[in-house]
Amino acid sequence: KTKMIFVDKNVDEENSYAQAVEILKSGEVVAFPTETVYGLGADATNFKAVNKIFEAKGRPADNPLIVHVDSKDAALSYVQKVSSKALQCMDAFWPGALTLILQAKPDTFASNVTANLQTVGIRVPNHPVALTLLKKLQLPLAAPSANTSGKPSPTLAEHVDHDLNGKIPLILDGGATEIGIESTVLDMTSEPPVILRPGNVSKEQIEHVIGTVRTSSGNKGNIPKSPGMKYMHYAPTAPLYLIENEKALIEKAIQYVQQKGKRVAVISETQYPFADFNFPLSMENLYASLRKCDLSDADLILASVECDEKGNDALMNRLEKAADHKWFS
Ligand code: TXA
Ligand code: MG
Repeated sequence: KTKMIFVDKNVDEENSYAQAVEILKSGEVVAFPTETVYGLGADATNFKAVNKIFEAKGRPADNPLIVHVDSKDAALSYVQKVSSKALQCMDAFWPGALTLILQAKPDTFASNVTANLQTVGIRVPNHPVALTLLKKLQLPLAAPSANTSGKPSPTLAEHVDHDLNGKIPLILDGGATEIGIESTVLDMTSEPPVILRPGNVSKEQIEHVIGTVRTSSGNKGNIPKSPGMKYMHYAPTAPLYLIENEKALIEKAIQYVQQKGKRVAVISETQYPFADFNFPLSMENLYASLRKCDLSDADLILASVECDEKGNDALMNRLEKAADHKWFS
């Protein structure tokens, strides 16, 4: 029921985009690749269309969506009270994997895009298929990651198909996404600005452009600033435990689990010959590896992490969520 088309210059690319544009304009959803993960898009000005995103994903209605536009100018037509720091970020990082939380102009987006907040998360994606689609569509596209809510984000069209087959009309297949985890979310409505979700655009890179930014210390209080942060995320089916990346420790853990008659998958940069399954660990591979765990019959998953490693806060953030902060011991 779900159609998947490979977007390629050699196979009538124009026709692929035309189909996607027609479906989106008629108020339906389309999955498409971005440089981070695949998104599930709908016309951000159409409440019913946006509602189909929530239905297909099983996403809680209080978790707002990111709006994708084709240029800084397009973004500026939808937001207000834009600080000079926000403009500097747009110039430095767009198109790219940085989502800016800004004050939305009233009545611009359907209310379910922003979960009734006054603010909106907005970005210009850096992917030829996403950009071409946006240019042809000439509408803002609300698009969360194109996975079932709670599952790892999709980095391949096949992942989208696995989760949403029969629930959406069309997937544009643009191959594997380059970055592999979702965009950095930076709240520009606070001073100093706050990183609500770490991503490939690092704190250091942002600070180089606009000076000090803070990192969100999680969900203090009952109203998280980024509503999505309170939900379970990226979780594979089998329990996932973090373990310090130390060969002897991991080998001992594998043995311990197997003695209980359980099969163990290891997600690591190194191969462990005695493990039942080995899957690669890197930003680009993490979600695909979590999904491979689901397709295997592993009973328990170990993900090896460098405890003293600085600068990989984005990967660590996703791993901690996938493991629900559990450490193997
Ligand atoms: O890389 C990405 O960002 C991908 C691709 C498709 O662009 N999209 C994505 O969307 O990850 P989603 O919906 O899975 O994550 C959006 C995050 C959530 O944590 C949400 O709570 C937060 O952004 N967010 C959206 N609008 C917000 C707002 N107005 N204020 C605070 N947080 C917001
Ligand atoms: Mg998501």
